[in-house]
Amino acid sequence: MDWGLKNRLSQIIKPATGRTVMLAVDHGYFLGPTTKLENARQTIAPLVHYADSLMLTRGILRTSVDASANVPIVLRVSGGTSILGKLSNEIITTSIKDAIRLNAVGVALSIFVGSEHEKETLSNLCTLVNEAEEYGIPVLAVTAVGKEMARDARYLSLCCRIAAELGAHMVKTYYCENFEEVVSGCPVPIVVAGGKKIEEKEALQLTYDSIKHGAFGVDMGRNIWQSDYPVAMIQAVREIVHKNTSAQEAYKLFKKLSANRQT
Ligand code: R5P
Repeated sequence: MDWGLKNRLSQIIKPATGRTVMLAVDHGYFLGPTTKLENARQTIAPLVHYADSLMLTRGILRTSVDASANVPIVLRVSGGTSILGKLSNEIITTSIKDAIRLNAVGVALSIFVGSEHEKETLSNLCTLVNEAEEYGIPVLAVTAVGKEMARDARYLSLCCRIAAELGAHMVKTYYCENFEEVVSGCPVPIVVAGGKKIEEKEALQLTYDSIKHGAFGVDMGRNIWQSDYPVAMIQAVREIVHKNTSAQEAYKLFKKLSANRQT
């Protein structure tokens, strides 16, 4: 692995713990102004300080994050579809040149294994890996988005392994029963998405279980910024990911911070 690629990866997965808390705020690219992300700048600003990296599109990066914010950027570069159409029919939306211009430390693209557009999305991944590797930029493959497939260990193992085989340097997927099987079949680091908003206690348990069973961290969105106390929530998530704190202790911290009226 070349120096630039290793260096960028180390800005995503923190060498001190070998883990990462990525803050996903890319949802608008197919959901529009979704709840609590209507004004992305307002949502992102108080959280930036606690995120190891931000995952977002170039449009939200340019308009809603200050260039002086000292946070690594993982740029979502696939899209072109919406929840009203065929979600899986994505294209690569952003050139590597633009990713470099925006000083991204990584690029992210969705693959839709088992969907109508499986081949096109896997082909997008191959193209992106070929182009990004020219410049030492790691690629995060996002798996299993959408409702089409059962998110069980068998399916998620298939998605993650294919992503890694095609050259993804990291994979984002969902937590499931027997998650360790997904991890053991995937030779690159896995981060777990939070999914739809659930109770904070449950989201912290999901974080704990993911880490315990081998995830390198989370790439979490709604369960942080749709909480009534997003700053408290991201701090609680960090405690689990970087300090191996139990879900119960992290929830206690969340309650304490939210009682102090931290937003
Ligand atoms: C989905 O493709 C989006 O990229 C989100 O970044 C991803 O789902 C993670 O966000 P959440 O934790 O809200 O599921």
